[in-house]
Amino acid sequence: MASKTNDNVILCIGAGYVGGPTMAVIADKCPEIKVIVADINPERINAWNSDKLPIYEPGLDAVVKRARNRNLFFTTDVAASVREAGLIFVSVNTPTKTFGIGAGKAADLQYWEKTARFIVEHAESDKIVIEKSTLPVRTAEAMHRILQSNSKGLNFEVLSNPEFMAEGTAIEDLEKPDRVLIGGMETASGRAALEKLASVYAHWVPQDRILRTNVWSSELSKLVANAMLAQRVSSINSISMLCEKTDADITEVSKAVGMDSRVGSKFLKAGVGFGGSCFKKDILNMVYLCEHYNLPEVAAYWEQVIKMNDCQERNFVNKIISNMFNTVAGKKIAIFGFAFKADTGDTREAPAIYVSKWLLDEKAELAIFDPEALPSAKKDLEGCKGKIEYVNDPYEAVKGAHAIALITDWKLFKSLDYDKIFSLMEKPSFIFDGRNILDHEALYKKGFNVFPLGKHSLTHLE
Ligand code: NAD
Ligand code: UDX
Repeated sequence: MASKTNDNVILCIGAGYVGGPTMAVIADKCPEIKVIVADINPERINAWNSDKLPIYEPGLDAVVKRARNRNLFFTTDVAASVREAGLIFVSVNTPTKTFGIGAGKAADLQYWEKTARFIVEHAESDKIVIEKSTLPVRTAEAMHRILQSNSKGLNFEVLSNPEFMAEGTAIEDLEKPDRVLIGGMETASGRAALEKLASVYAHWVPQDRILRTNVWSSELSKLVANAMLAQRVSSINSISMLCEKTDADITEVSKAVGMDSRVGSKFLKAGVGFGGSCFKKDILNMVYLCEHYNLPEVAAYWEQVIKMNDCQERNFVNKIISNMFNTVAGKKIAIFGFAFKADTGDTREAPAIYVSKWLLDEKAELAIFDPEALPSAKKDLEGCKGKIEYVNDPYEAVKGAHAIALITDWKLFKSLDYDKIFSLMEKPSFIFDGRNILDHEALYKKGFNVFPLGKHSLTHLE
């Protein structure tokens, strides 16, 4: 006879960028609930149990310190954790498939499916299984089938509870979410499971921000939210190219457009292109779904968002080369920032990877500085031919450099001593501000040739 679920023990399988912070916040907000985060990667778990957490995220250390070994536990014993918990979040990685049918577009569900089978194998009581990973719409159906195929007489409820936090602001986003989305099956037991999960979030999230939907809407909404955000970035980036041709200024255009309350001001910052582990992967996933459901125009519409992003990254490199007299061969270029955005050490799909590789192809010599992402940068550029230095000091990076390519919007770049930097660089000195965060007039006055994005350049070269 199956035992009842233990709703006071929550497990998350997958201790990554999502699993770690989300569970730390749940544990912090719900001291009476035991929260276990389990992963097959012992290095990651050791790091979660140490003073140097495996991910850099502002505010995370404090939350983990408060809850760890009180009601928050990190372990590699996934099987024992499955047996113990009543609610199981699955937060394993769901990268783009690199092989077989759907390669390059569809989500690779192997880690997710292994986890479902693992839960079936080790469960000894009923469970509520919660999709926290981002998954193609209708995955819950497959998950439910696998879970219900058990011969132990156990009942599994499947919920979708996608995560909307962004890296760099994860703790803030988790503590004060715009909304928490929970999708459940439209059955009595499905509704009861949904309410059980809602009661966890109700510890700190107001009821009107806990959105209850059917499971398919929930799965699809996650993909759509990311696609819409990425689409805004690609839209404004496309306009930055038009600005460069017409003497319009992208910052002014963005402000003017964003002040229309129907449009809104967020996600309208032009840059060197969007990165991160989610946008590209989730749009490709949606494109694949559209193709699968025979909606070629819809697929092509969303695919264009990615093509635009590739074009923006390439454009940044073309601008560097053409303005440095059509050659960067043998020239040192300081790369300011490698992470895909500020306040994270994550470099997954970071524009800096592509920009660096293209510059190396042109035989430029790179000196890369990033306050958090150097270890990842080294891995990303492993095997690349050419001279690459990884430096912990921005002033070291610019010594003898012909140009600075600013790729990540780290705040610290705004407060560097640019007089000192100018004195350390080769002349003429170039700055390509891929995020428009520097004071371009001031840099020009110091003697730099300044190339912002989507607005006119300021040069001493004519
Ligand atoms: P990640 O790669 O950082 O973490 C995934 C973890 O799962 C890894 O530590 C891996 O070892 C572990 N894992 C894989 N298979 C396992 C198994 N069978 N048993 C136990 N552990 C296993 O990934 P992430 O960035 O945390 O993303 C996880 C999911 O959340 C993805 O679907 C992603 O799309 C989604 N998501 C990510 C973000 C983000 O900002 N990173 C935001 C929202 C949603
Ligand atoms: C994204 C989603 O925002 C989040 O809701 C989801 O859960 C995971 O994916 P994340 O990738 O962590 O989060 O960062 P995000 O802040 O969305 O930025 C993505 C990329 O877009 C970054 O490279 C960022 O620099 C870029 N971006 C963002 C711009 O270029 N301009 C903008 O105006 C906003």
